Amino acid sequence: MIVVTGATGSIGRALVTRLGGHEVLAAVRRPAGDLGSPYAPADLAEPETIGALLSPGDRLFLNSSLWPGVVDAHRAVIDLAAKAGVAQIVTVSVRDAAPGGRLGLGMHGLIDAHLTESGVPWAALRPSGFMQNLPGDFEGGTMYGSYGSGRISYIDARDIADVAATLLTSPVGPGRAYVLTGPEALSPDEIAAEIGRVLGRSARYVDLPVPELAGRLERQGMPRELALDLAELQAQTGDGSWAPVTTEVRDVTGRPPRTLADFLADHAAAFS
Ligand SMILES: NC(=O)c1ccc[n+]([C@@H]2O[C@H](COP(=O)([O-])OP(=O)(O)OC[C@H]3O[C@@H](n4cnc5c(N)ncnc54)[C@H](OP(=O)(O)O)[C@@H]3O)[C@@H](O)[C@H]2O)c1
Repeated sequence: MIVVTGATGSIGRALVTRLGGHEVLAAVRRPAGDLGSPYAPADLAEPETIGALLSPGDRLFLNSSLWPGVVDAHRAVIDLAAKAGVAQIVTVSVRDAAPGGRLGLGMHGLIDAHLTESGVPWAALRPSGFMQNLPGDFEGGTMYGSYGSGRISYIDARDIADVAATLLTSPVGPGRAYVLTGPEALSPDEIAAEIGRVLGRSARYVDLPVPELAGRLERQGMPRELALDLAELQAQTGDGSWAPVTTEVRDVTGRPPRTLADFLADHAAAFS
């Protein structure tokens, strides 16, 4: 059986769909009849509720959003998966994950380090920024951020799901990290222009100093410290370090990753 956590998220939903025909169990916090897959109540914040779903030989997709307790929770789930005799854990990490890194980079770095020492066969997916974030960066015809002019090789979260589905349904390979990107690295100006072209209206990018972006995120409801960290992370990834494109999506799935134009063709309504 393939146990999928984070099944209601942008990667998880696409993954459950891609795994149609396989024996899948979605571990979810709320009833999720719309997933089209069997599901069971479980919460990563209570790791034993995930552990109770695992049997010897299962494959586990380990993914969730980030919260202050995420490192301890994921490490505990990894330990329970090892105890249960799980055959493989495929986890969603982040590009440049490393203990001590900023925000998610540091959290995932700690989780990944635990995973590699767990004794459970593993694969860590390390994507760059998700195209699915872009609608949230827009207000009216303006995209706000602190990326400067740096290019980022954004990836469509559905491609992460496709890589996960391939790994979870193929013979288990040696443990390794996969740096996942889209097919092109675009600057914020180019992204705004492409979105404007697809939507048929003008769109532009406005670069904000870190404190201003943090204030904007805070007004949208994000806790102050997280907002500042996120704005600083944007400035950090905008230095060009998330620009290089990899071939991992094509290497694993046999087809190229989706372009921004592909993403926009399916998500134009999210920008209106
Ligand atoms: N966004 C990016 O650009 C980006 C880039 C690189 C890496 N990443 C990484 O990608 C991962 C996914 O991020 P995301 O923001 O895209 O997530 P997401 O798609 O919004 O999905 C989050 C999922 O996790 C579930 N979840 C959250 N807390 C949970 C808990 N305590 N127990 C069980 N399920 C829980 C949510 O379930 P509910 O429906 O119950 O809330 C949801 O299904 C994160 O690890 C992030 O660091 C993100």
